[in-house]
Amino acid sequence: MKALRSHAVGGPETLTLDDLDSPQPGPGQVRIAVKACAINYPDVLMIRDLYQFKPPRPFSPGGELSGVIDAVGEGVTQWKAGDRVIAMMGNGGLATEVLAPADKLFPLPDGVGFETGASLLMTYGTNMHGLLDRGHLKAGDTLLVLGAAGGVGLSAVELGKAYGARVVAAVSSEEKAAVAREHGADEVVIYPVAPLDRDQQKALSEAFKAACGPDGANVVYDIVGGDYSEPAVRAIAWEGRFCVVGFPAGIAKLPLNLTLLKSCDVCGVFWGAYAARDPKGNGAHIATLFDLLQQGKINPRVSATFPLDRGAEAITMLANRKAIGKVVVTMP
Ligand SMILES: NC(=O)c1ccc[n+]([C@@H]2O[C@H](COP(=O)([O-])OP(=O)(O)OC[C@H]3O[C@@H](n4cnc5c(N)ncnc54)[C@H](OP(=O)(O)O)[C@@H]3O)[C@@H](O)[C@H]2O)c1
Repeated sequence: MKALRSHAVGGPETLTLDDLDSPQPGPGQVRIAVKACAINYPDVLMIRDLYQFKPPRPFSPGGELSGVIDAVGEGVTQWKAGDRVIAMMGNGGLATEVLAPADKLFPLPDGVGFETGASLLMTYGTNMHGLLDRGHLKAGDTLLVLGAAGGVGLSAVELGKAYGARVVAAVSSEEKAAVAREHGADEVVIYPVAPLDRDQQKALSEAFKAACGPDGANVVYDIVGGDYSEPAVRAIAWEGRFCVVGFPAGIAKLPLNLTLLKSCDVCGVFWGAYAARDPKGNGAHIATLFDLLQQGKINPRVSATFPLDRGAEAITMLANRKAIGKVVVTMP
């Protein structure tokens, strides 16, 4: 088997394609012949030791994948060789074969391709929890999504529309704006590339307010952070919910007086920890996701694919703010 692995702390250029023996599944495990592995921003951070989880080296990045089971370990009765599955791994997906715990898999629905299957859970799973459990989004709300054309962002736009919200998408380019509109955004704000000075932040806050309308955004979904967060808080509605999801632009500091003035809540979103603490709730969200997919209400956009030996380029696209929707690595 082949695996793209991190042996030393660094950027995507430090990854090497290694030849390894096929792993044998232990009790409760299955071996998956990987077909597709989606890249997520945590992969950018993990190889640089900047993520909250630091796997021991060498490790392969790649947290979500789809493939076909080709061997099962002792005691595994719910899966058999030939089953098409989706696995959430944390890491390990940038390889032609992986071992996965049998109780952490989901069946890849009939008619859903491997690339789409690998692109579902991290983004839409995060957002089902973030928008519904933490943001309490409801039909008729105005939802402001920052970074709305990235993996998490675009799926938030789609889920916002699926749940009846008016969606304002905020992005950094015309190209990203067009994609956000294609996926259902009602309004788009194009923001400048950070760093933003005070005047630029003030202008951005006015642009958010104009797009969200006089009542403001009931839910702000911040997957970007940095200089973008405070202008977005200033455009929040009375009793709005500000969801903290990610920080590719840096960890923002918030003047707490703004929360008093808007009587708003700041809500942390940590999908992985939620899924571990409430597997039943998470399972229900994922069942709903599969339904929404079958009904055509969500449509994961895979905008670029790379073969495994060019997997580093896939991670570079996210690091360089170039990814639109999902970037996926496919196996031979
Ligand atoms: N909380 C959770 O449970 C959870 C789960 C999954 C992911 N996340 C986090 O969500 C965030 C987005 O992940 P993703 O996989 O959707 O990544 P992505 O596809 O790369 O999207 C990130 C977006 O952030 C914006 N951005 C702003 N400044 C950036 C910078 N300096 N570098 C890169 N992007 C920048 C970009 O949009 P514009 O160019 O339009 O600004 C980009 O589209 C990450 O921080 C990730 O760790 C959190």
